[in-house]
Amino acid sequence: MTYRFSGLVAAGAIVAAGAPALAQTEVKIGYALAPDSHYGVAAQKFEEVVTEQTGDAFEFNHFPSSGLGGEREVIEGLQLGTIEATIVSSGTLANFVPDTGVFDIPFLFRDLEHARAVLDGEIGQEILAKFDDVGLHGLAWGEQGFRHITNNRNAIETPEDVQGLKIRTMENPVHQAAFNAMGAAPTPMAWPEVISSLQQGVIDGQENPLSVIVSVKLDEVQEYLTLSGHVYSPAMLLVSKPFWEGLSDEQKEAFETAADEAASAMRGFVDEVETTGVETLKERGMKVNELSAEQKAQFQEEISAAYEGYYETYGQELVDSIVNFE
Ligand code: PAF
Repeated sequence: MTYRFSGLVAAGAIVAAGAPALAQTEVKIGYALAPDSHYGVAAQKFEEVVTEQTGDAFEFNHFPSSGLGGEREVIEGLQLGTIEATIVSSGTLANFVPDTGVFDIPFLFRDLEHARAVLDGEIGQEILAKFDDVGLHGLAWGEQGFRHITNNRNAIETPEDVQGLKIRTMENPVHQAAFNAMGAAPTPMAWPEVISSLQQGVIDGQENPLSVIVSVKLDEVQEYLTLSGHVYSPAMLLVSKPFWEGLSDEQKEAFETAADEAASAMRGFVDEVETTGVETLKERGMKVNELSAEQKAQFQEEISAAYEGYYETYGQELVDSIVNFE
């Protein structure tokens, strides 16, 4: 396994010393987080299982920590065939397959079990299949956990506390609508710009799951963490369609098995951080508060203003069928 941190310049340009004479197919896999994050662990599992099943047919080169750019750029690279694989959040996925945005609706899922069952079931798999129409191939749904708000302005307990809060959201219209409905000032921004924007005070806060907050040490730039769990954060293991079409049937099977195991590893990692993350962040000095059921209901009430738009875009029937999924 090779990690490359220097970005596009290195991509494809380096042949490892002592590489076997037989041509290997390069798999550049890019992701936004560090090798020891839930994405890194999944990417390693993906490589491990593909290699177990295909021998040394593929050479994996990992580009963690946004080494190939923001998530949108990486997905575009997959479409062009210049990058083979990625693990991404649902941040920009709706820009490629609009239906994906339905999973970004706040307060849609009761818990992780509910979300995983929907994504692995018919609804999730139908949406995954739509990536084939846009130059991509969706292999499996992974996840990051439920998203929570961090900021430097004040502890958040009621919707009044987010009024005018300059909060970075992903480049995701569903999330932006929700924060607008809450009276915040959402600022969509690609992930690679977020830490410096927090440091410089361009934005007051951001929202991400514990898996991300712990991994990127957001406690170093954020004072308050509010366990709002306002929205589930799916992730996806995607490959380039041109790359996928060049694989034999056996190789495709190996990639599918590997993606399923990678997604399980990612979920296992998230389960672990969900139990230890809050303590870790408190130890690192963050001021943490958890919304009570009543406080959460107030946020839900505020966000209900955005639901009309969600029903229009995705259809109330689909939204209800996800909410009521047993
Ligand atoms: O906030 C985001 O953009 C995503 O959650 C992140 C951190 C890039 C992981 O996919």
